[in-house]
Amino acid sequence: MSNKKRFYITTPIYYPSAKLHIGHAYTTTLCDIYARNKRLRGYECYFLTGADEHGQKIEKNAKAAGKTPQEFVDGIVEGFHKLWDVLEISNDDFIRTTQDRHVKVVQDIFSKMLKNDDIYLGEYEGWYCKECEAFWTDTQVGDEHLCPDCNRPVEKAKEESYFYKTNKYLDKLLKFYDDNPKFLTPVSRKNEMINTFIKPGLEDLCVSRTSFSWGIQIRENPKHVIYVWLDALTNYITALGYGSDNEEKFKKFWQDPDCEIIHVIGADITRFHAIYWPMFLMSLGLRLPDREFVHGLLMMRDSKMSKSKGNVVDPYPLIERYGVDAVRYYLAREINFGSDGSFSPEQFVERCNSDLANSLGNLLNRTVSMIIKYFDGVIPEYKGKVTPFDGEIESFTETVIKSYEDLMDDLKITDALAIVNELSNRANKYIDETTPWALAKDEAKKDELASVMYHLAMSIFVCGMLFKPVLVKSSDRIFDQLGIAEKDRKYENIHNYGVLSGLKVDKGEQLFPRLDAAVEVQFIKDLMGENK
Ligand code: MSP
Repeated sequence: MSNKKRFYITTPIYYPSAKLHIGHAYTTTLCDIYARNKRLRGYECYFLTGADEHGQKIEKNAKAAGKTPQEFVDGIVEGFHKLWDVLEISNDDFIRTTQDRHVKVVQDIFSKMLKNDDIYLGEYEGWYCKECEAFWTDTQVGDEHLCPDCNRPVEKAKEESYFYKTNKYLDKLLKFYDDNPKFLTPVSRKNEMINTFIKPGLEDLCVSRTSFSWGIQIRENPKHVIYVWLDALTNYITALGYGSDNEEKFKKFWQDPDCEIIHVIGADITRFHAIYWPMFLMSLGLRLPDREFVHGLLMMRDSKMSKSKGNVVDPYPLIERYGVDAVRYYLAREINFGSDGSFSPEQFVERCNSDLANSLGNLLNRTVSMIIKYFDGVIPEYKGKVTPFDGEIESFTETVIKSYEDLMDDLKITDALAIVNELSNRANKYIDETTPWALAKDEAKKDELASVMYHLAMSIFVCGMLFKPVLVKSSDRIFDQLGIAEKDRKYENIHNYGVLSGLKVDKGEQLFPRLDAAVEVQFIKDLMGENK
């Protein structure tokens, strides 16, 4: 596990070719959870997302919409900002590949690679998938000539192109994989890269196009625009000011070995990040990222959710009906980060009900009601481990915190949240074990009852704090109900037994009302266009 104190985490930059869907929201939300978790624990974290605005497809879509490409992307990118606001995404910067800060530097990067003799002018003939903007080899498209990524027909294309010499850096890349086993995870992705792309023989990568003009021009030969992936991948460094007059952020979040660099990507774009991006960085003599974490893709029932297939879930109506926290929680908790998963209305409702309404919500409700009933609404003073169960729940809580932190640090976000959920289940069970209603009948058991109430309140506080990066709104409502002052809502206080002594609870509205499964499943199915 890394001991670094500073973090730079990035999402892929999304294509503004159409509106974003819940699949894009998934990546960004998970990165946001990571960033918020780090910041909450006192680390410095720089979180970047953005838009990948060039390419043939965008040029084509803009034309169809009767707009210039720039007008077209401006409109869509406005929608990106709106969605990230609604989802409470806490990014520090938003890069657009049409911004001057990016364009100029990408041209410089290209010139540098040309000078280094990493790039040469040649002619390309291959199978081109317009949808994915990628060329493929004979083996990759197979006899049916279908794009291995999107399964659409590809066409033979030939053009004068610049090529990047991939084999120049291949040995170095393989050594890097070997020396850095955490670089590309889950590890199955590394094997996939080696077996599918590297072993069959890497071809030089075509890095320019002349067949369309919506891209960054090559200064040395302006009829060429730079291949969209060379343009896009460099966003991770241009956003930090690499190659500009002010490289302060770049030094701090990229060059400094004390900063951990993490790219989170979907499985569909692993090849570009795991093979070409490290090579481009080698060309520039720059450090490579510490981690590329590949998450799985959200399927709709059995097929990949994607704009081009038209089977997407729009996040807005979900957020409007269930609140941003429930949507964030579902995405992070239900679909194991790193594996493929399906978006399912049944599981959405079940997850909200079991974890949020029945476990956490119920725990809060019961506890606050009992503190009101037995102690006039004042959390009793902490007096150590009074009942035999107190020590057990205290040590369980400490174990949960430790595992949660380790899992979060390793980007095992789903597992980290599952553990917090275990703590809230454990605390509910603690109520049954200690039977406060029986203790309340016996004046001699007053201290025990007080201790039980304290430990319950403390468990809720810990759950609220550990869930805070996900439940960005409700965590504060939990703290409100426990009467915790702003200044005490600090992460380090989860170890501070005593912090809640004497606080006045405030029974607010029910945090997560139980959803009526039949009604809500139908509502979501309608959103997904099922049963129509
Ligand atoms: N512009 C490129 C990325 C360049 S990064 C230097 C691109 N953009 S995209 O708009 O197609 O977004 C791809 C990313 O969006 C995926 O890698 C993934 O993180 C996310 N997702 C898009 N559809 C998704 C699902 N159905 N499920 C999960 N994530 C999905 O590729």
